Amino acid sequence: DTPVKIALFGPGTVGSQVARLLTEQSADLASRVGAPLEVVGVYVRDIGKDRVGLDPALLTDDADALIAKADVVVELMGGIEPAKSIILKAIAAGAGVVTANKALLAAHGPELYEAADAANVDLYFEAAVAGAIPIIRPVRESLAGDHVRRILGIVNGTTNYVLDEMTARGLDYEVAVKQAQDLGYAEADPSADVDGFDAAAKAAILASLAFHQRVPLGDVYREGISAITAADVAAATDSGHVIKLLAIAERTGEGGDGGVSVRVHPALVPLSHPLASVHGAYNAVFVEAEAAGDLMFYGQGAGGTPTASAVLGDVVSVARHIARGGRGPRESHYGDLPVLPISAS
Ligand code: NAP
Ligand code: HSE
Repeated sequence: DTPVKIALFGPGTVGSQVARLLTEQSADLASRVGAPLEVVGVYVRDIGKDRVGLDPALLTDDADALIAKADVVVELMGGIEPAKSIILKAIAAGAGVVTANKALLAAHGPELYEAADAANVDLYFEAAVAGAIPIIRPVRESLAGDHVRRILGIVNGTTNYVLDEMTARGLDYEVAVKQAQDLGYAEADPSADVDGFDAAAKAAILASLAFHQRVPLGDVYREGISAITAADVAAATDSGHVIKLLAIAERTGEGGDGGVSVRVHPALVPLSHPLASVHGAYNAVFVEAEAAGDLMFYGQGAGGTPTASAVLGDVVSVARHIARGGRGPRESHYGDLPVLPISAS
């Protein structure tokens, strides 16, 4: 069988686990795809840096040459540039793309989706929201025939870990943040987590898919956890609550046709509520849909190996389409629906 050629960009916390699993599970993956998966190169900015577990012969700092020989480009560098240019070049070269980059998708998703549609290639991003939890496909595909009214949940593992450690073990905020970084939960700049930017990006992505409309990141109300003190945490506990950073996206107005509200902020959650039992870097997402009713998704929201699971699922999907000579079904993310006013109420 002709191999499906995989190029990995960014062998960090997530990328190194993707590389490991691609090697360790190569036989299983080949049988699931119907063709072997061959890693043709790993893009790094410093070839001299020691990369445990990676074949040095695969390392390259020539992005264009790597894209040219890839069927699937897996972007796990994070940030806007050079990730955006690399993805656009990969799409233009006819490669399928898998990314976990919620910051990029929330800021430039429409441009990337349109480029992928125009080039007739796949752009998959299950790992961009809530780590290992399958939530993009359920919202984008399984619920495409339903009317989603509200999405509510904990979508940032770092802040949940920090708040949980402050609550359960009385840890100082700074110590808990450092632990979240050491465990591979935090973004390269942890202010993306603690100031709510990461959760806001995920909320914008989920809302755009659930409500079939563009949700500009700038329209998402955002408040992080950096102002929360040990005294706040203690007061919450005394009153039978726990503090959680929630992401909420909902239709507003009579019949849900008044617009959408998308917001991220800390909230007092009663101890009896299921969200109060989401500990560590776990995430939970509730989806309320008209016909389906209430759905709940729960699992590890951050970390190298759990996130690599979601990335690999996408790699298998895209590689299957390539092995059969095509791409996956087109999901029209935005259609011709009007952009409704967004309020932060
Ligand atoms: P990370 O540990 O910081 O790894 C990033 C990798 O990309 C590193 O290998 C880094 O190279 C490389 N890189 C960064 N900028 C680059 C540049 N300009 N040129 C070349 N290489 C560059 O990050 P991560 O935690 O794995 O996250 C990767 C992506 O997954 C991000 O989009 C993140 O938001 C997303 N994500 C992460 C998690 C998680 O739990 N960590 C979960 C879900 C999604 P060096 O080794 O040289 O620094
Ligand atoms: N930094 C992110 C988090 C990684 O803590 O949730 C997963 O997207």
